[in-house]
Amino acid sequence: MTADSTDFCRKAPPDRGASSFIYPPTPANLKFFAEALKAGCIVAIPTETVYGLAAMALNPKACRSIFAIKGRPLMDPLIVHVTGREMAEELAYVNPSFQKLAEVFWPGPLTLILKKRGTVPDIVTAGRDTVALRMPRHAAAADLLKILQSPLAAPSANPFGYVSPSLPSHVSDSFGSRVPFIIDGGPCEIGLESTILDLTGPGMPVILRPGAIGASEISKVIGLPVQSRLEVIGENIPAKAPGTMARHYSPKTRIHLFEGEPAACESGAATIYLKRPAGKDSDKDTVFWLSDSGDPAEMARALFALLRKLDEKGFEEIRCEVPGISESGVAEAVRDRLIRAARQ
Ligand code: TXA
Ligand code: MG
Repeated sequence: MTADSTDFCRKAPPDRGASSFIYPPTPANLKFFAEALKAGCIVAIPTETVYGLAAMALNPKACRSIFAIKGRPLMDPLIVHVTGREMAEELAYVNPSFQKLAEVFWPGPLTLILKKRGTVPDIVTAGRDTVALRMPRHAAAADLLKILQSPLAAPSANPFGYVSPSLPSHVSDSFGSRVPFIIDGGPCEIGLESTILDLTGPGMPVILRPGAIGASEISKVIGLPVQSRLEVIGENIPAKAPGTMARHYSPKTRIHLFEGEPAACESGAATIYLKRPAGKDSDKDTVFWLSDSGDPAEMARALFALLRKLDEKGFEEIRCEVPGISESGVAEAVRDRLIRAARQ
């Protein structure tokens, strides 16, 4: 049930899917979901990073219900999804770095933080004078935004603090009938949340959350050095992205990280390797891995689904191999999510 209980939010979309609450992105369904959003309902949307819980960004009441459904503190601002640079300029004061980055990386997994205009409701930005903007490249999200011609606020579609969803079933597993509209976009292509880059500071741009687009790629495009949030911890930067702080993305099962070989332990633990260990050819029992080949993109795609699966299995603990500190790009993002997940 959506918090905004208009009649529309109880209607059934025209084309049914294989399971309850999950519907295919047919043209008729996308039109229906656009109307549902306009009526103030919440719709879970696929993106190339993770699934999002979307509401019309310019409708404060609908945005408020996202916080309620997720159990998210009102001080944690939402990302606004747009159709492109033109829509971004209606919501924020853009700058040359924004133009260059959006030209190269949009649509895609890069969220840019800019000074906001008065058009953006305070609930979306948690009262800040900045707004986080992203143009998703998943076809269903892009098509929906094109029909709406209006921005969508969408945090990841997980209960606050839990692992983000990379499959439509992850959303229904967490929320059941509280999110009755989930658009089925299949498994997420990237599987980790977008890179968040703050372009509002007086100094160099700062990566507040690492993602598939790394610092060196960004730096090359804007011709400026880029600072990583990890390097500036202690300078109060975490306060800029409250939801990226401390424990986050955590499964219920306690996680211990290791590099190299895991220490011996009692039974009841599951072990996750980054790459399939030699001599293992199935992921039965207690040994699992995130990739066959060691490709970081494959690890990223598999991570959240595996953490959720192991949570269901009731292991006493999960021991997980973590990429090294010198990694960059998506491997750095995998490391970041694992460190947060392991924090208790
Ligand atoms: O890939 C993604 O970014 C996904 C998909 C659905 O687009 N969305 C996502 O949203 O991960 P969420 O809300 O789970 O994470 C957004 C993060 C939060 O930690 C929030 O604090 C931060 O972005 N954020 C949003 N607006 C901000 C702002 N104005 N300044 C600093 N941080 C901001
Ligand atoms: Mg999130």
